[in-house]
Amino acid sequence: MRRLATSLVVLAGIILGLGGAVAQTQAKPGKLDPWWKHALIYEIYPRSFQDSNGDGVGDLNGITQRLDYLKELGVDAIWLSPIYPSPQVDFGYDVSNYEAIDPQYGTMADFDRLLAEGKKRNIRIIMDMVMNHTSDKHPWFIESASLKTNPKRDWYIWRDGKGPGEPPNNWQSTFGHSAWKWDPKTSQWYYHRFYAEQPDLNWRNPAVERAMFGVYRFWLNKGVAGFRLDAVPTLFEDAQLRDEKVLPGTNAYGDPNLDDSMTNNLPEVHQVMRDLRKVTNSYPGNRVLIGETYLPDIAELRKWYGADHDELQLPMDMQVGFLNKLDAEMFRTRIDQAEHDLDDDQPLFVFDNHDNVRSWNRYGDGNHNTAIARIIATLLLGTRATAMMYYGEELGMTTTPPTRVEDVRDPIGKIGWPKEKGRDGERTPMQWDGSPNAGFAPASATPWLPVPSSYKTVNVAIESREDDSLLSWYQQLIKLRRDHPALHDGTLTMLNVNDNNVLSWLRKAPDGQAVLIVCNFTAQPQTVAFDLSSQGVSGRQLKALLQSPGMDESQSLSSVKLPPYGVYIGQVQ
Ligand code: GLC
Repeated sequence: MRRLATSLVVLAGIILGLGGAVAQTQAKPGKLDPWWKHALIYEIYPRSFQDSNGDGVGDLNGITQRLDYLKELGVDAIWLSPIYPSPQVDFGYDVSNYEAIDPQYGTMADFDRLLAEGKKRNIRIIMDMVMNHTSDKHPWFIESASLKTNPKRDWYIWRDGKGPGEPPNNWQSTFGHSAWKWDPKTSQWYYHRFYAEQPDLNWRNPAVERAMFGVYRFWLNKGVAGFRLDAVPTLFEDAQLRDEKVLPGTNAYGDPNLDDSMTNNLPEVHQVMRDLRKVTNSYPGNRVLIGETYLPDIAELRKWYGADHDELQLPMDMQVGFLNKLDAEMFRTRIDQAEHDLDDDQPLFVFDNHDNVRSWNRYGDGNHNTAIARIIATLLLGTRATAMMYYGEELGMTTTPPTRVEDVRDPIGKIGWPKEKGRDGERTPMQWDGSPNAGFAPASATPWLPVPSSYKTVNVAIESREDDSLLSWYQQLIKLRRDHPALHDGTLTMLNVNDNNVLSWLRKAPDGQAVLIVCNFTAQPQTVAFDLSSQGVSGRQLKALLQSPGMDESQSLSSVKLPPYGVYIGQVQ
């Protein structure tokens, strides 16, 4: 499963081009690996990446301008957060037309150019597919809301209330308060898992599946490499609309906590995933399905690959990246689970996205943040998982939330202020250089969110010049992962499993080359020794491939000396 002819994959890619007729391959020994198995997927939040026309909002042409940066970093695919026409209540996750481009991001011609320029650089485009809900301004919903007898009425979830002014049940929106909105015109309530402007589609209606699958085909025909499925575990709700169980305490919006059992991760979703996989499999080029799958444990995650490996290729593993505690033992357990409990399917790790406080803030201790960020990068890129990054993660961009409620753009920040400040803080403009507006937008523009003051030192221009920068660490690690057979394809074995201060593992290529990775999870220096005799590794010497700044070059298996939060990556020879 892990030792395949990568050079052949590269060659096939060159000969056939992206989206060319590379046969659908299962990741089995002796066959070509699909491209996504070794990929680095980079999430771009289009509003915030690069503004090319000076309106303060990032756009498609801006992304195209920056493709060379992504190429140099080693990105294989871009996941584009939604760029479809949208009233922008949830900044694009409220789609009013799935087959067009919102004018503030550009035109379809701009999109086609991005796709073509990406292809020239071997960078694929993955679309964000919002399938749980549409915007309330989508023509489907406008029709559905127009009359109880409209043919599209049943495309959404309309119900009578329990009594006057009383919603059908106790379900709540993820974004606060009741998940039901009263419609005085037709005297019924509709269900919205997210904002009221995002009515849920009724996936029990086959016409909905047909319409949405038409949308997938539209983009697959254009040549996109696959989809990131937004909020996909919430596609179905209990058909009988039973109340959820009330748990102790209240959430950030002051609502009672509920157990989520009637609205999240219902088994019906798996048939849709199988149907969808059939659609993507009917296209050449190993199109990929990625899921936004926040799930309680690895057993639930396993289900999303399908009992017959016929659902998603890459449901996101949120168990590792959102552990939110720098705890060596817990990371060891979770990484091991991804190794052993996914039935040989491919894990996808992610530490950052547009919905969560950045890993810099979640894992940093305030004193050693850059060193800790190197550990995070190593966990992401030094294991066997497919890797997913979020723009600016490679720089150490920080979450910078608004300080006044009147500056908040993300509506949940207004609903939940001050406990929930919303997601603006992790969506601030990309920090390209030290010029006004950080190179994100012309100096004369007003960026849609303020550029954090850290841009003067934390930016691409400065970090590209500094050998010890976080960006340089990412670049070197990504290159090693691509070029070194042990890191590219090798098996993974945890070492020194009783050590709760230092997390270490071995990557071993089929040809026997072995790489040792050692991360100090503490603020104290640590010295560790390794006995690799039981790992079938005969070498006794270590040759450094990458190590934290200031570390001694000469390390040995009997004594690897690490500074606080230091990382050592070395070849055993
Ligand atoms: C997903 C998106 C998030 C959005 C929500 C509703 O969780 O990542 O940004 O608000 O779905 O579409």
